[in-house]
Amino acid sequence: EQDPLVIFTPSGKRGHVPRGTTVLDAARRLGVDLDSVCGGRGICSKCQVAPGIGHFSKHGLTVSEDALSPINAVEQRYDEKRGLKPGRRLGCQAQILSDVVLDIPPESQLHRQVVRKAAEARAVAMDPATRLFLVDVAAPDMHAPTGDLERLNAALAAQWGLPEARASLPVLARLQEVLRAGHWQVTVALHQPHTGGEAEILDLWPGFFEGPLYGLAIDLGSTTIAAHLTDLATGAVVASSGVMNPQIRFGEDLMSRVSYAMMNPGGAGEMTTAVHGALDELARAITQEAGIDPRTMVEAVLVCNPVMHHLALGIDPVELGQAPFALATSGAVEITAGALGIRSINPSGRAYVLPLIAGHVGADAAAVALSEAPEKSEDLVLIVDVGTNAEIILGDRTRVLACSSPTGPAFEGAQISSGQRAAPGAIERVRIDPATKEPRFRVIGCDLWSDEEGFEAALGKGGVTGICGSGIIEAVAEMRMAGLLDSAGLIGTAEQTGSARCVPEGRTQAYVLHDGSAAGGPVITVTQGDIRAIQLAKSALYAGARLLMDRMGVTRVDRVVLAGAFGAHISPLHAMVLGMIPDVPLDHVRSAGNAAGTGARIALCSRAARRLIEDNVRRIEKVETAVEPKFQEHFVAANALPHASDPFPELE
Ligand code: FES
Repeated sequence: EQDPLVIFTPSGKRGHVPRGTTVLDAARRLGVDLDSVCGGRGICSKCQVAPGIGHFSKHGLTVSEDALSPINAVEQRYDEKRGLKPGRRLGCQAQILSDVVLDIPPESQLHRQVVRKAAEARAVAMDPATRLFLVDVAAPDMHAPTGDLERLNAALAAQWGLPEARASLPVLARLQEVLRAGHWQVTVALHQPHTGGEAEILDLWPGFFEGPLYGLAIDLGSTTIAAHLTDLATGAVVASSGVMNPQIRFGEDLMSRVSYAMMNPGGAGEMTTAVHGALDELARAITQEAGIDPRTMVEAVLVCNPVMHHLALGIDPVELGQAPFALATSGAVEITAGALGIRSINPSGRAYVLPLIAGHVGADAAAVALSEAPEKSEDLVLIVDVGTNAEIILGDRTRVLACSSPTGPAFEGAQISSGQRAAPGAIERVRIDPATKEPRFRVIGCDLWSDEEGFEAALGKGGVTGICGSGIIEAVAEMRMAGLLDSAGLIGTAEQTGSARCVPEGRTQAYVLHDGSAAGGPVITVTQGDIRAIQLAKSALYAGARLLMDRMGVTRVDRVVLAGAFGAHISPLHAMVLGMIPDVPLDHVRSAGNAAGTGARIALCSRAARRLIEDNVRRIEKVETAVEPKFQEHFVAANALPHASDPFPELE
């Protein structure tokens, strides 16, 4: 009699296995992805399958009701205690008796796919560095004396095929008690580095511990720190939280923090201590909010720019403040979470810091590259992450280039006469009627446009307080489109423009966007100085992009991705009217939202992704804008709105 045929769906993998083989063993033999934490003891239920019964014409199979062995005592016990869904069987208990079709539901797939981006539906296979394993350890034997850790390691090798793992002293100190409390059965949180280095037992629980384990994906920005608590079994974000970066008190932007470190003995250390405190506070708040045991949070991934990177690692950033901008290391860093000051996590918790691309192009840009995968793109994609420094990546399947460009803080509303951070009261959207030159706008925290009925009431007491980054970009672009500005960026007089809103200010003109003086509020104008600041910032951004295009030998790109929180708020039309980004069809401009955070989460969930980004970063060609003579040339030409010479046919 021939061995029964087993077909697994959705993979379609099939093969003959000896009668009586368990479904879990059959899956392993045929290379089918079926999860198990308890190693087939009927405890974890991760191995659930749904057997099909009936005629499967596609496979030419008729499956009888008794293709699997009847429910045994172990399965029965599980069903009584925790309940099996109808139609489900425990793969580690059910034996294959005759031909069968077995469906593996998504939650039983070990390397289940996690959608990386809603927009792109690219998927990442779950492969976290730390996973749970249940083992039965041999009791000690007077006649064959070995240590408990050695017997635990022998059990991990025999039952899971795992390499020898080390244990830190605190874990070792608990080992004996836990093993005995679990009657020699123990669940181990095992960290297996993506580099293939030595595994480490991070924690142990007596008997079966179901988890889940969690990781923290941290995007450490110079202004804010955001964190996403992620379930390491499913990749789902369980909670998100953010705090201000307390280093702000040492300097608003990166360079002022580097100078603080240069001017003050111990200054770098102060900033390290401050950011460690904030990281720990964030971890504590997020575990509390999610109501999880900090012990189950076993990993953290950190992405940040080079200066934040060095300060977080306790490295003095002075070298980053001067040419040739040497990094202490550009490689990925694996450390304990404690080394980043994160204490509200498992005491053995690990941290992974993504590699840096170059002196000014950080691990945050690497995370964006991981999330957006330009190296897989068929068409040429330009990715810009706009902040005080714009980080720019250009590439496709054949080649990827990166640079950074000093845009300054104008895009964030700083250095703008009425500028402010994006907060309630800030003008964030602006439209100017080209015929009447009259503006209307929207304010953060208010659902109505300024010309809609009830706007004043909806605005509340705070009123209009200023203009934020996206607001000033739209204001300048709208002024250009309404003919209030010429291509050199000069604001016309009331006479020239026919608008009484153009008023003299010193020897130049300003445009009055909002006059709140009657109600005791501010007068919000766009001054010639504001236009100048935006021109400088956008020229730097455009010149950086053009430099990469030169290197690539192209004059056009196929699409543009705007990354970062700010990118999420920029309107592609207005960005192009200003000439911030090169000319492409408007529907080829996409906002990627917080791509750096997404990249951090991918690195948290996948060891393969860590290897991939380390490899890709080595291959990215770095372009240093500061030493490229062409940069200055591009910068000057980009001062005009949208540009002195480059064509913008899509704007016609
Ligand atoms: Fe854990 Fe089957 S493998 S219940």
